[in-house]
This record gives sequence, C-alpha cells and structure tokens, in this order.
Amino acid sequence: MHLDGTPVKSCTTLAVMCDGHAIDTVESLEKDGVLDPVQQGFHELHALHCGFCTPGMLMTSRALLNENPTPTDHEIRTAISGSICRCTGYKNIVSAVQWAAAHEAGARGEA
Ligand code: FES
Repeated sequence: MHLDGTPVKSCTTLAVMCDGHAIDTVESLEKDGVLDPVQQGFHELHALHCGFCTPGMLMTSRALLNENPTPTDHEIRTAISGSICRCTGYKNIVSAVQWAAAHEAGARGEA
C-alpha cells in the first residue's frame, strides 16, 4: 500500500498509524475499468504465478515510476528488493515494469 504516496508494508503498518494520511491500495490502480500501465505490464509479460507477492510488487513499481519514469533494471530490482517472490525469479517482473515505463513514455510522446 501507499501511505501519502510512499510504499509501505501494510502488514507492519497499524491502522492507527494511518490516521490523517492518504492511503492507496492495489485496488486504487485501476481507473474507470482501465488497468494501470503497471498492471497491464504484469499481464502482458506474465509477471506473476501464484500472485501472493503481486499487490506489493504492483504498488512498489507504481511508486517507483511515479518518482523515476525511466528506471534501469538495477533501479527496479533495488525498488522491489523489499518484496519476496517465490515463483517468478523476478525477470518477468522487471520486464513488466520496463514495459509500463515504455508505455507511459509513449503516452507522454517521448518514445
Ligand atoms: S508470483 Fe508467487 S510469490 Fe510472486
């Protein structure tokens, strides 16, 4: 989840700590039936298997692209290093974030 736009672990964030702050969960990514480019990238690049880590990976990736629209693979791996994926080996997750970055760059007319 995001606390005032910053990704935090919802499992270690108490509700009382959120009082007065803006909270965004993975459900906030899709807008009016349109998936966020990060969600689209995960779908296109098959960046999940069991899906256990996916909400956290999506929210962390979204926050990264909000801060850094053109991350390197290393920057993506650093950003998601707080989340453990037992299934994918991370390669498709990194590719999915790069897909989203390219998609958004195209929407900005930069690619
Ligand atoms: S997709 Fe299964 S833990 Fe990441």
